[in-house]
Amino acid sequence: MNILSDVAAVRESLRGEKNIAFVPTMGNLHEGHLALIKQAKQLSDCVVVSIFVNRLQFLPHEDFDRYPRTLEEDCRALSALNVKTVFTPDEKILFPTPQEFLLALPPVADILEGKFRLGFFRGVATIVLKLFNIIQPDLAIFGKKDYQQLHIVREMVRQLNLPVSIVSGETVRTPGGLALSSRNQYLNDTQRAEACRLYQTLQQIRQEIVSGCQDFQTLQENAIHNLAQHGWKVDYISIHERRSLLPARPPDQDLVTLAAAWLGNTRLIDNLEI
Ligand code: PAJ
Repeated sequence: MNILSDVAAVRESLRGEKNIAFVPTMGNLHEGHLALIKQAKQLSDCVVVSIFVNRLQFLPHEDFDRYPRTLEEDCRALSALNVKTVFTPDEKILFPTPQEFLLALPPVADILEGKFRLGFFRGVATIVLKLFNIIQPDLAIFGKKDYQQLHIVREMVRQLNLPVSIVSGETVRTPGGLALSSRNQYLNDTQRAEACRLYQTLQQIRQEIVSGCQDFQTLQENAIHNLAQHGWKVDYISIHERRSLLPARPPDQDLVTLAAAWLGNTRLIDNLEI
């Protein structure tokens, strides 16, 4: 496995490759990431994984400094999966000068996560575009766990005519339903048990809608109230139309419920398609 941290070196090592499958990550790899990498391996013999904790997508008060960095373990896991190339640039490589060219994003980047994490998707889209330009993959895999991110990357690729296919991966969960996330390790044992309630709440909403309920407003309000009673601070629980990611209105059919909520100092996100 090639572990490369330099742009010229990674380009050189991938020169002539016909079918590059790319999985961008911020490292601290768990089974959710590894599932995307296994999926990539089904689609290509040349899998490239990037590990880069991208400062552009963290607000000043967020957890950039304490975000878990576990490069050695990550590389061991990737090597066991026969990944061809790991790209692990440091900030001086990706931002030799301040990143002053930033993408301007459409309004869908200002709702849900974008409303609570101002500039988050601009930081994500800018780094993903940079990584695409460096790796020049034929396909790239993103998890549905970050549903709005997946939507925005797809839209960026479409509107900017980028020559890459975007493939989605299903969310990997604990047996209790908690979506795997690097941030789960901030939870203590009690919080970890409680954290499963987020997914259960999404499942209840789906159940109600499948049974015919179309009063999305009341479903959202009840869910927020229920979580608040168990000590959560909810940023949003919101039912959206899948293709546009706009708020759902009857008779919209293909829906997704998205949620972000705090347990103590840990912010969890999740979603469920309906
Ligand atoms: P990161 O949070 O490391 O996630 C990397 C990829 O793994 C993303 O596509 C994410 O959706 C996926 N993922 C995370 N948890 C998952 C789970 N439980 N099941 C399945 N897939 C999961 O997302 C980012 O990094 C960054 O924003 C990035 C795209 C790398 C840009 O910096």
